[in-house]
Amino acid sequence: MISNESIQKVLNHTDIVEVIGHFISVKKRGANYIANCPFHNEKTPSFNINPAKGIFKCFGCGKGGDAVAFIEEHEKFSFVEAVRWLADFYKIELEETAPSESYVAQQQVEESLRIVNEFAANYFHDILLQHEEGQNIGGSYFTERGFTKDTIAKFRLGYSLDQWDAFVQAATAKGYSPELLEKAGLIKVKPERTFDNYRGRVIFPIFGNTGKVLGFGARILKKNDKAPKYVNTPENELYVKNRVLYGLYQARKAINDKQECYLVEGYTDVISLHQAGIENVVASSGTSLTTGQLKLIGHLTKNLTILYDGDAAGIKAALRGLDMALEENFIVKLVLLPEGEDPDSFVQKNGSSAFETYIKEQKKDVIDFMMELGLKEAQNDPFKKSGLVNEIAESISKIDKTKNLGLQLHYIKEAAQKLGVEEEAFVGIVNNFIRDKVKQQQRTEATKTTEPQDAYFNPDDLSVTQEASLNLFQKEYKEEWQLIKMLIEYGSKPYAETGTVADYFYENIDIASFENALAHDIAMAYYQYWSEKKEHPALQFFVNHPMKSIKEKVVDLIQVEHQPSENWLKKFNIELPIPEELYEEDVKSSFAYFKLKLLKRYLLENLEQLKNCTAPEEIEKLIRTNLLLKQQEKELMNIVIVR
Ligand code: GTP
Ligand code: MN
Repeated sequence: MISNESIQKVLNHTDIVEVIGHFISVKKRGANYIANCPFHNEKTPSFNINPAKGIFKCFGCGKGGDAVAFIEEHEKFSFVEAVRWLADFYKIELEETAPSESYVAQQQVEESLRIVNEFAANYFHDILLQHEEGQNIGGSYFTERGFTKDTIAKFRLGYSLDQWDAFVQAATAKGYSPELLEKAGLIKVKPERTFDNYRGRVIFPIFGNTGKVLGFGARILKKNDKAPKYVNTPENELYVKNRVLYGLYQARKAINDKQECYLVEGYTDVISLHQAGIENVVASSGTSLTTGQLKLIGHLTKNLTILYDGDAAGIKAALRGLDMALEENFIVKLVLLPEGEDPDSFVQKNGSSAFETYIKEQKKDVIDFMMELGLKEAQNDPFKKSGLVNEIAESISKIDKTKNLGLQLHYIKEAAQKLGVEEEAFVGIVNNFIRDKVKQQQRTEATKTTEPQDAYFNPDDLSVTQEASLNLFQKEYKEEWQLIKMLIEYGSKPYAETGTVADYFYENIDIASFENALAHDIAMAYYQYWSEKKEHPALQFFVNHPMKSIKEKVVDLIQVEHQPSENWLKKFNIELPIPEELYEEDVKSSFAYFKLKLLKRYLLENLEQLKNCTAPEEIEKLIRTNLLLKQQEKELMNIVIVR
């Protein structure tokens, strides 16, 4: 465990330009730096580094954060790994606090399991290659399945003798304890006897990211109704299903190169496809994928192609993981194989080019597929049809549009058209699901975050504009965001006669009138920090905020010097970006824009009332209000136009 002081020291020493410049080539532009984004393919640079603020932001793919976030993303490191990397880079000695006992214990068990698995994998592999029974039974089984010597070596396939305790004997002779062997799932310890778990089975070792064996799948050879076809390693300290995916170790490079990952069901599917030269493939091992497993793939590509059996069970299994995949922003395609075939049998029978052709021809977007299937089933039944509309809307609502806005909009357009419903009405239904989702997330985030910052901010206290946050499709809330940006950047600077920008902000703006919930939340978080600590929150408070939505939005807002604010400036006919010294002007016009928008709302209300009013005194009052509002509008327009 690294001490908090050490982490702080590393962060203080970190120069983001230097760090990013270590990985990619960066060019100075004005006060900032630009580069070709390392996280997506591009020829013109949209990757910005702001050294003063210590953050980066790519306008192309949306990734952004501080130096630690860059290393996490670029090197696929955890936070701690990234901090260690930085410490090494800057030759800062990290002060380690003693790790907890349970942490040490866990590490020790993991290490022992790793060692015993390595031994077992070698043992089973040797038996397959050297032992007579291994060659005769295991070897001829694999030969029959068309697996070559190279393939057997590449996947370290093995065989477990059909005897009660051949492995037990070999392992205990080496000094491995029965408890450890049982934890690893290799043996069973019963009062009558201790025996091998994989007797008479062929062995498929399951590898982790670094090529170490985490566990095994063991397939029966003879048909037997009483015994399961496969026996797998039980969950233990090392084998955590959520963190392993069969074939990923061998497939990593191909998945990254091809920018597509095939998902199949079985061990043998992965192996046969590899043998046929199709290497971007992993197996779910018969169950639907977990979020953790999807994330493993998501580091490499967001294009997931599911290759499943064309029967009803296969389709069901494929669709089960769909919502989760959409939540992780995968673009999911589906290929159904001819009935009775799996990828293994198909490619063994027809060869790799026929296989690739088949995939190319059959590949379908999974939401399209769901719609076609559903429409066929529903025929003209309006109840079934509306059920289908709901189902599709729910799936589409899972897409995280902050990460891929285009994708959600694309699906909405497609679906509305295919299902024959008004796009606007369909958006309404999708929004309903998003609303539920956001509420749910707020609840879980509120219970999850335990960092000290949390004391200043509790999302549950903030119900005011939840509704408005869900108005996700049309509005941009430009005026609100511009104000929030001013607050965060210049909150502590002097403004007006007496106070700071923040003083002026909270005295003049009713944040309850904000229509965007996130904008409201950020203003609230600022205020709570400020009133409790008696000092203005630094940018870092937001950039490291425990609530992801806040953190990401602020990084987004602060780096906007180049792009979004260009639109903003263009919209109001302002030519040049504003230098920081002119912040007073900038703040002033931001307030003016915000108030103008409010005024417009009041004016509309006022006109509405006028239309419906009949009492003469009332009418006079309303007209006076109207004139007053118009006068204010004119004044505000002056502020805006002058600059
Ligand atoms: P072959 O029949 O040898 O081609 O194997 P397969 O991998 O094609 O098996 P199948 O299509 O029947 O099942 C797909 C995957 O589901 C397997 O690779 C296993 O990961 C898993 N699976 C199948 N049967 C069992 C079982 O009885 N127990 C467990 N734990 N997993 C199973
Ligand atoms: Mn099969």
